Amino acid sequence: VKRLELTLPGRSEVFIGDGALEALTPTSGRLAVVVDENVERLHGERLRGLWQGHRCEWMTVPSGERHKTLRTAEALYERLGALRLERGERVVAVGGGVTGDLAGFVAATWRRGVEFIQVPTTLLAMVDASVGGKVAVDLPQGKNLVGAFHPAAQVLVDPSFLTTLPVRERWAGLAEVVKTALLAGGPLFDAVDDGLEAIAAGRSDATPVIESCVAYKAEVVARDPVERGERAVLNLGHTLGHALETAGGFERLLHGEAVAWGLRAALSLSGLDDARARRLVERLPCVSLAGLTRDEVIGHVRGDKKSEGGEPRFVLLDAVGKPRFGVRLDERRWTAEVDRLLALGAE
Ligand SMILES: NC(=O)c1ccc[n+]([C@@H]2O[C@H](COP(=O)([O-])OP(=O)(O)OC[C@H]3O[C@@H](n4cnc5c(N)ncnc54)[C@H](O)[C@@H]3O)[C@@H](O)[C@H]2O)c1
Ligand SMILES: [Zn+2]
Repeated sequence: VKRLELTLPGRSEVFIGDGALEALTPTSGRLAVVVDENVERLHGERLRGLWQGHRCEWMTVPSGERHKTLRTAEALYERLGALRLERGERVVAVGGGVTGDLAGFVAATWRRGVEFIQVPTTLLAMVDASVGGKVAVDLPQGKNLVGAFHPAAQVLVDPSFLTTLPVRERWAGLAEVVKTALLAGGPLFDAVDDGLEAIAAGRSDATPVIESCVAYKAEVVARDPVERGERAVLNLGHTLGHALETAGGFERLLHGEAVAWGLRAALSLSGLDDARARRLVERLPCVSLAGLTRDEVIGHVRGDKKSEGGEPRFVLLDAVGKPRFGVRLDERRWTAEVDRLLALGAE
């Protein structure tokens, strides 16, 4: 098991590898373990066995973005209230980014904040969502509108969860992996370039790639914990990606599927003449964009969280490993890119 330490506001330890679950720090207090229903069904028994020495109170939450709401949070507050969970006790999230964001939000707000532990079970959550301290729930008005910075004291990454992850979800996670490879360059880029399909098919161990992605995100986040600047590079491919995801009503496209399209756009807007980078991005499956309307997508780009006064900001690449953030682009350029994506994805 590899151990990484992050300095966020507070200290965060990440354990990666088989056996990571056993790194859970023992304390005398209880653990409110919030677990995704699918993960509970597939891995619940193993988890109960592994953690039988801890005082776990299990609470299952329904799967899916549409449950990342104040309503589900309220149901959890009721359970915590019935248990009288105290300040010194802990909340553990076991699941993908939805469960992590939701349980993290509850941990951040319950009695003004209790210690939080993340056990990511999707590739996306392992390489991205569980690291960095952002937690949130959605409102009808938008995604992640109510949230907090509440870094997990421990992140326990056990790659064996991935054996049961559906292939569509693996590819969605790999889009964030490709994003990180483009940002970091170097050995991570080479490893992803060599192993992409093998990881998607579960034929090769994803552990080294997960480690490098976490290390990269940890570095960026440590330099800019509450996103005043540099952390924005992590939004490579996300300005257009989010807009497509939103235009699809969060049901048509998974987050990573939208990001895969967004990365194509980012490379083209960067004018990057790098055949290897372009080929890598094109190896991510492109799901159909049929039925998404141009005006809607453009409206969502303008309304992006990171836009200022309706003017979107982009992350571009000067080269693989050399991102630039906060870039303004001529409106004609990025709307033409929206047209190009919608045409490519029309079948
Ligand atoms: N906080 C952050 O920094 C951050 C970063 C990126 C994304 N996010 C959030 O993460 C969420 C997306 O996360 P996600 O892609 O993990 O989706 P998810 O949590 O919805 O999980 C995807 C699906 O996989 C299932 N699942 C989870 N683990 C499994 C396993 N081991 N085997 C089989 N099935 C499994 C779940 O039940 C669900 O149906 C979004 O809400 C997004 O906003 C947060
Ligand atoms: Zn993302």
